[in-house]
Amino acid sequence: MSREAPRAAGLATAVEALRAGQLVGMPTETVYGLAANAADGAAVARIFAAKGRPRFNPLIVHVASLAAAETLIELGAAGQALARAFWPGPLTLVAPRRPGAPVADLATAGLPTLAVRVPAHPVARDLIAASGMALAAPSANRSGHVSPTLAYHVADDLGDAVAVILDAGAAPVGVESTVIGLAGPEPVLLRPGGIPRTDIEAVLGRALVNPAADAAVAGPGMLAQHYAPAVPLRLAATDVRSGESLLGFGPEFLPGSDMAKAIVNLSETGDLVEAAASLFTALRRLEAVGAPIAAMPIPDHGLGEAINDRLRRAAAKA
Ligand code: TXA
Ligand code: MG
Repeated sequence: MSREAPRAAGLATAVEALRAGQLVGMPTETVYGLAANAADGAAVARIFAAKGRPRFNPLIVHVASLAAAETLIELGAAGQALARAFWPGPLTLVAPRRPGAPVADLATAGLPTLAVRVPAHPVARDLIAASGMALAAPSANRSGHVSPTLAYHVADDLGDAVAVILDAGAAPVGVESTVIGLAGPEPVLLRPGGIPRTDIEAVLGRALVNPAADAAVAGPGMLAQHYAPAVPLRLAATDVRSGESLLGFGPEFLPGSDMAKAIVNLSETGDLVEAAASLFTALRRLEAVGAPIAAMPIPDHGLGEAINDRLRRAAAKA
């Protein structure tokens, strides 16, 4: 049997499930998504039910190309420039929805805007192409929990609610897409993610506005507590206290490390790209240990902004 056969068979089963209005665990370059036919309201409703996601939190629709995106949203000059620079890839653009765009209202939570992304992962691309659908897909975790970067994370969180999970190994970027709001007068960074702020600002030729300064368009996914493991997390730790696990970063040895319940280092060399890729798997591993987590400080540049955003949310009290 050829090496491609299992993948092709999995893809065919996944397409069948999507056609039947069921949910598919879809690998993307950022995290695993929970995909459904974006045009099928009942299928989209199943996403919200499976995740326990509040209905006011809209979904990202995944398509094959900029041309396909432009049939759904009005991108404008800034949006087109960003799309050309970063698609396919970990960038989501939120823009005014075109009248009659074939997307279930539930996916947009009734908003006049729609979030669209063109993923780079070959399996996500194959699934979009083979199904011929636009795929609504949030991260494939229970609402509020850590996003999945391995196929078994999807099974752990969602179990039988997912008809098929396409296993493509570890999601290479490891944090979700950067979400940019384009519906207002200025481009807004709604969520830091897999493309660093400065890369986006270089294309736009201007600074991104922060959502705090423009709360009306901020994504409901910016809820303070999100991406959280079931154990407490202490930020910017300079020591490990009795009974804690350590989420490390870089070569430095923290006082108390020798007593840690468990240690996971996001990147021994202090590489932010490697740290982003290991972040959610590390949080799930330390959650399984059950001890409170002491997280070492992480620089805020490059992918560090997205890592620190997720760690702050993981640390926030509900
Ligand atoms: O990398 C990713 O973006 C992953 C993969 C699967 O593509 N998806 C993902 O989806 O992270 P989700 O649902 O976990 O996060 C989507 C974010 C949420 O913060 C949501 O509030 C925001 O995008 N969002 C979606 N539609 C929006 C809209 N119309 N206006 C503002 N924010 C929106
Ligand atoms: Mg999510």
